[in-house]
Amino acid sequence: MLDDDQIPPINWDALRHTYVIANGKGGVGKTTLASNLAGLVAADGASVLLIDVNGQGNVGRDLGYRNTATDDEGEALYEALRTGAPLKPVSGIRPNLDVVIGGLHIGAAPDMLAATYRMQQHRQALALAICLAPIADRYDLVVIDSAPENPPLQQLALSAARWMIAPTRSDKASINDGLGSISRQFQLVRRSVNPALALLGVVLFGSGSASKQIHRNARQWVAEELGADAFLFDTIVRYSEAVGQDARSHGRLEHELEMAAANNPKFWDLRSGRAASGTIVSATSASVAEDLATLAREILTRAAEQDAA
Ligand SMILES: Nc1ncnc2c1ncn2[C@@H]1O[C@H](COP(=O)(O)OP(=O)(O)O)[C@@H](O)[C@H]1O
Ligand SMILES: [Mg+2]
Repeated sequence: MLDDDQIPPINWDALRHTYVIANGKGGVGKTTLASNLAGLVAADGASVLLIDVNGQGNVGRDLGYRNTATDDEGEALYEALRTGAPLKPVSGIRPNLDVVIGGLHIGAAPDMLAATYRMQQHRQALALAICLAPIADRYDLVVIDSAPENPPLQQLALSAARWMIAPTRSDKASINDGLGSISRQFQLVRRSVNPALALLGVVLFGSGSASKQIHRNARQWVAEELGADAFLFDTIVRYSEAVGQDARSHGRLEHELEMAAANNPKFWDLRSGRAASGTIVSATSASVAEDLATLAREILTRAAEQDAA
């Protein structure tokens, strides 16, 4: 029987507000961007779903539910993928923000799908789209965080999305290896199962440089790797190791850290022992939070413009 005969019908229109954050490499800001884009839009009052299609479950570190009773390490997502049942997100991770939790179990999903849907490669790739489409209309925005260096998991994530956003570091190796490999998955998914998938743009993430020349080089390498229409977003997320560390150790998003930094203990409260230094949050979080908020506006504006075009 033809592969396509065995695929349940998918309401693609329900997936039109779904964004996948993807790059072939790890450490380029995918999870940070996914968590913060979802968290910012939710904090602004829209209804948002964040899906963690990742064996490491780092979204749980960004949002602070890692190793709590909420954290099923991807078991519910694994089961939904196996049976094709609608996703059951965990609601209220933040006001307006629901999450489909990832982790350990998701690493085993590609083998399970290959065994369950033997010889049906399209059915395997569409497993997430099939579980997401029935619930996607409940949300204004759906964000998918995807895995590096794992083509089957990347295909699951890409096959369920309308828009792809690729964060990258600014060096040539990151751009060639990371964007080069995700570009191949992107083409494959568009050709085989999801022709609606479009590249919304590339984000320079964690750039320590204010140099125009470095950004011009990065822009040119991105164009060489993905084609001239793969334009970079104007907003660059600035480099701050301290903010990256604070976010995951406190389980707070960058705009939440900014608020916490405003409540840092006063110097004299530290001296007198009335406060402990363990609660201090980097004040740079305000700058990084501003970059992420500017970027979120640019992403949503560009998607609206492309929809209108
Ligand atoms: N603005 C920033 N500048 C520098 N490093 C950051 C910044 N934000 C986050 N990080 C750190 O960068 C690393 C990679 O980020 P992450 O979002 O996990 O990337 P990926 O999901 O692509 O692997 C993490 O250790 C994170 O703490
Ligand atoms: Mg990640």
